[in-house]
Amino acid sequence: MRALSHGSSMRAHVALALAALVLAGDALHPSLAAAGFDYKDALSKTIIFLEAQRSGKLPPNNRVKWRGDSALDDGKLANVDLTGGYYDAGDNVKYGLPLAFTVTTLAWTVLAFKPELEQTKELEHVHEAIRWGTDYLLKCAARKNKLWVQVGDPNLDHQCWVRPENMKAPRTLYEIDEKTPGTEIAAETAAAFAASSMVFRNDKKYSRALLNKAKLLFLFAKAHQGSYDGECPFYCSYSGYNDELLWAATWLYLATKRQVYADFITHEAISSSVAEFSWDLKFPGAQVLLAEFNMTSGGGAQNFKVQADNFVCAVLPDTPFHQVFITPGGVIHLRDGANTQYVTSTSFLFVVYSDLLLRTGQSVMCGNQPVAPARLREFARQQMDYLLGANPRHSSYVVGFGANSPTQPHHRGASTPVLPPGTDVNCGLSFGEWMAPDRPNPNELTGAIVGGPDKNDGFVDKRGNSSYTEPCTYINSLAIGPLAALAVRGAQLVATH
Ligand SMILES: *[C@@H]1O[C@H](CO)[C@@H](O)[C@H](O)[C@H]1NC(C)=O
Ligand SMILES: *[C@@H]1O[C@H](CO)[C@@H](O)[C@H](O)[C@H]1NC(C)=O
Repeated sequence: MRALSHGSSMRAHVALALAALVLAGDALHPSLAAAGFDYKDALSKTIIFLEAQRSGKLPPNNRVKWRGDSALDDGKLANVDLTGGYYDAGDNVKYGLPLAFTVTTLAWTVLAFKPELEQTKELEHVHEAIRWGTDYLLKCAARKNKLWVQVGDPNLDHQCWVRPENMKAPRTLYEIDEKTPGTEIAAETAAAFAASSMVFRNDKKYSRALLNKAKLLFLFAKAHQGSYDGECPFYCSYSGYNDELLWAATWLYLATKRQVYADFITHEAISSSVAEFSWDLKFPGAQVLLAEFNMTSGGGAQNFKVQADNFVCAVLPDTPFHQVFITPGGVIHLRDGANTQYVTSTSFLFVVYSDLLLRTGQSVMCGNQPVAPARLREFARQQMDYLLGANPRHSSYVVGFGANSPTQPHHRGASTPVLPPGTDVNCGLSFGEWMAPDRPNPNELTGAIVGGPDKNDGFVDKRGNSSYTEPCTYINSLAIGPLAALAVRGAQLVATH
């Protein structure tokens, strides 16, 4: 459901050529900053949420006790095994594009924050979270020039408010191939494989399998270009696929250091300055990764460091180029509908980029105005603190963490009772019985970061209001890095490695 409200305002944000749109509401609230949160607790919980999203046969060490095995016949309609993977949000569909992006960003988290994850004893949990995704994606990519990209018919799925363990909706299969291309999904999956291959380098065989699939999928994505609209209106690619091609090439370059990918990046890829990093729009992620190499593309016109800087300048309220709306309470607000994804993604990029800038002795340049790396870290911490409770409502947006946290996340599994396997749920009655009632969910969706507040920092804790109360895997995947950094480095966020 999360992407329905995504459309009209989206295009306005895409490829916005930093035209200094001055928007109101850029006041920050430094008084709310030094809040003394238990970042380690928040970190552990945000990782546990990913376990609640698992599909397939759960392992004995599953920590979410109200979850059970589900969707064990996924793939059977085509005589293949497509069990496993993740439900993206509050429904029971497995969407390939956000799933792969979740995996890519988890892998990047490990690559950027390994010491912090080790020190907090969370590295193994994040490895498991990645592998739960890559094991599934390898099944999806088992055959050459073909990729299974979705399991479950969303329209039929949405007619029943049922936990995945008891669902009966058809597990319709969707694929891309030479005749039905899907460059976004193929390239994002290539990025997920390439990034994960770096995480699992000690497991040579697995790592090599991931990297091989990444290379093949990238070739496939380039050779058969076209957008796949089969996940629309739930996940429509509003931004096109140039960002995914650059992103995939970037991860392949990092994983292999092969000239062929550098050549693609410098000679063929298209890159532009935007103010958003998300499952749909990956330019700023690639630009931050490439900034280190002082690479340019488009005949030198696109310098990735300059473009990464442009992203920062568009976000920060105190630069001449700022254009992202900031609520009176101080959190960035791009649009209703899982807005917290932009909060965690921006915080992630800001911490990663500030580490790079410190390491290389550089600053961000917003026109002639330099912005010190410390300003990026301060902003990232303030954004994460907002989610944890430093906001006008003095309320947490992380389920089971902090003050007055959400009790009604829009989530089938968390809001319905645990029923014996095989229980026949009446779909017609299910909404009235379990979705509509104004009462807390029976099962705590620990660590879920919900969609978050509206433009005025307002929030109503109501399950039916999915734009605000629905969680998503990629909101959390991008929160893990900043929280690990806050837990280990402390509030100043200066890297210890
Ligand atoms: C980046 O490369 C350009 C030439 O391509 C050079 O002028 C510039 O000094 C380089 N910047 C850094 C930080 O190395
Ligand atoms: C949904 O939540 C938003 C943000 O809190 C609020 O403004 C709106 O009134 C809510 N709508 C309903 C129907 O609860």
